[in-house]
Amino acid sequence: MNVRGEEKTKFVHEVFESIAKNYDWMNTLLSFRMHKLWRRFAMKKMAVKPGDTALDVCCGTCDWTISLAKSSGTGRIVGLDFSANMLKVGKGKVEKAGLDGQVELIQGDAMQLPFPDHTFDHATIGFALRNVPDIVQVLNEMKRVVKPGGQVVSLELSKPSWPPFRAVYYLYFERILPLLGKWFAGSYEQYRWLPESLMQFPGYHELARIMAEDVGLQDVQVYPLSGGIAALHIGRKPEVE
Ligand SMILES: C[S@@+](CC[C@H](N)C(=O)[O-])C[C@H]1O[C@@H](n2cnc3c(N)ncnc32)[C@H](O)[C@@H]1O
Repeated sequence: MNVRGEEKTKFVHEVFESIAKNYDWMNTLLSFRMHKLWRRFAMKKMAVKPGDTALDVCCGTCDWTISLAKSSGTGRIVGLDFSANMLKVGKGKVEKAGLDGQVELIQGDAMQLPFPDHTFDHATIGFALRNVPDIVQVLNEMKRVVKPGGQVVSLELSKPSWPPFRAVYYLYFERILPLLGKWFAGSYEQYRWLPESLMQFPGYHELARIMAEDVGLQDVQVYPLSGGIAALHIGRKPEVE
């Protein structure tokens, strides 16, 4: 399967609408809980200050949105996603955390963010850049809506660089993971999409180059995580463009 453009948007939307209720526990199962460590690392590196504002693009079930709200304490935090079912799960978690006064959830498209220029201190995208039809457009949108000096941050699955580890990882990812999706969540096709989306996605060095050269972010830092299974990228919008 090689889906692109509008076809990709429609396909990805259907995937997340259908797996929403199982998304959180499947994430924990399939990543052996590692996504929680990666999320904590991302928050540490971002160093969100009290009162900061943030947009969590493709917020899904709101794990990162909630962490941003807790770190900021008082600042406006917005989660945006196009899947009503993912947002529904996220809304329940936001309410349970007592953060519904601070967090706003919006159904919308990452390709056209419905916010004016220079609105937020931070814009994040977690495990979703792989899913959008145009990486550069989404990163450009994130850059547009952050304030000068603000951070654009991606936490995403990536490709391990050490060949033996990469071989074992790809075996797990391509062969075993879709079967786990089928057995535990009854969704084979949806979990087969995961490895396919990664194969089409740039490696972490290339993504850092895209952020710096194609999007024009400054001081791009890249942190490969767990041998390159995931990677954190942080770039800054220039003070003057
Ligand atoms: C793998 S989930 C990640 C959710 C969340 N960020 C996390 O860290 O767990 C990918 C999310 O991206 C959303 N998504 C994909 N393409 C999108 C688009 N073009 N606009 C808005 N949301 C999108 C999906 O609905 C899904 O909730």
